[in-house]
Amino acid sequence: MGNSVLIFYFSGTGNTKYVAEKIQESFIKKNSSCTLVAIEQAKAQLHLIEAADKVGIGFPVHAFNAPKIVLDFADALPQTVNKKTFIFKSAGDTLGNAGSTLELKNRLKKNGYIVFHESLYAMPTNMVSQYPNSIIKELCLFAQKKAEQDVFEINAEQTRLQNNSWPLNICSWLFSRFETFGACMLGRFHYRVSDACNHCKTCIKICPTKNICEKNNKIKFGWKCILCLRCIYSCPKRAIYIWLFRWMCLKDMYKINDILQNKGSPQNELSAKKIKFYSERFKDYLQK
Ligand SMILES: Cc1cc2nc3c(=O)[nH]c(=O)nc-3n(C[C@H](O)[C@H](O)[C@H](O)COP(=O)(O)O)c2cc1C
Ligand code: SF4
Ligand code: SF4
Repeated sequence: MGNSVLIFYFSGTGNTKYVAEKIQESFIKKNSSCTLVAIEQAKAQLHLIEAADKVGIGFPVHAFNAPKIVLDFADALPQTVNKKTFIFKSAGDTLGNAGSTLELKNRLKKNGYIVFHESLYAMPTNMVSQYPNSIIKELCLFAQKKAEQDVFEINAEQTRLQNNSWPLNICSWLFSRFETFGACMLGRFHYRVSDACNHCKTCIKICPTKNICEKNNKIKFGWKCILCLRCIYSCPKRAIYIWLFRWMCLKDMYKINDILQNKGSPQNELSAKKIKFYSERFKDYLQK
């Protein structure tokens, strides 16, 4: 039997979960045991860390950093000694994201988790600009191959660390603080629910920060939003929107599994010119 690996991940809209599952499959292929735990449900599973040979942590890059829920999770981890730890992150682009683990690595180190390997997966962005379905499928297929390579390196305990220059790291830190504050403000004051809502309570159940509740027959949002977009894309009635910031969400919504299974929107209406633009943008990444 190989390693015993425990992976904690946060995924707002499914990309990081997809990568985590591919990494899990690759470990299992190499005869290691690998358990996946969503960070929101991690409290009851923290005791598994002691027996794990390696711990993995996965997250979506938010404003060049890990989302607050992941940083808070790192602070709350039980103290350990030199636990071999790897990080994987999914982002809508590779540009500027190398340093997005810096803060997380420092917080993990304080609790005895030593990061020796980190990897950035370019995945479809879930906000602002819609990627063509063909590119989404290509990125996902590539993630599968990349996961196999990463697992090979992690098993061999090969060191692979990423960083940005210090001025970029300062910019990332500032940008991420602004985004964390902005997420709370948007969640509290700009998230709205239209009359299409049928009070199914899906949003309340799935919000990772328990930021949504129902009061006087109305869906309400609190101060704990991390802008993960999960509630917006999971609402069966497409009733949740961000007032004045509708442009932040994708018109066709974002459901990675539907796209991979050719369900839902057959092909978002992107011109050949745009498809070519995205192909060029990820050419280098996909060739590596
Ligand atoms: C609030 C927010 C901020 C984001 N910031 C970045 C960013 O700084 N760089 C980037 O490449 N992608 C960024 N993205 C895109 C996500 O990182 C990307 O789509 C990721 O794969 C989503 O993963 P998930 O589906 O697991 O949540 C951002 C997305 C959101 C919602
Ligand atoms: S998921 Fe949508 S329809 Fe269901 S309660 Fe929330 S806003 Fe209403
Ligand atoms: S309110 Fe919506 S976007 Fe904000 S944290 Fe909850 S699920 Fe995510």
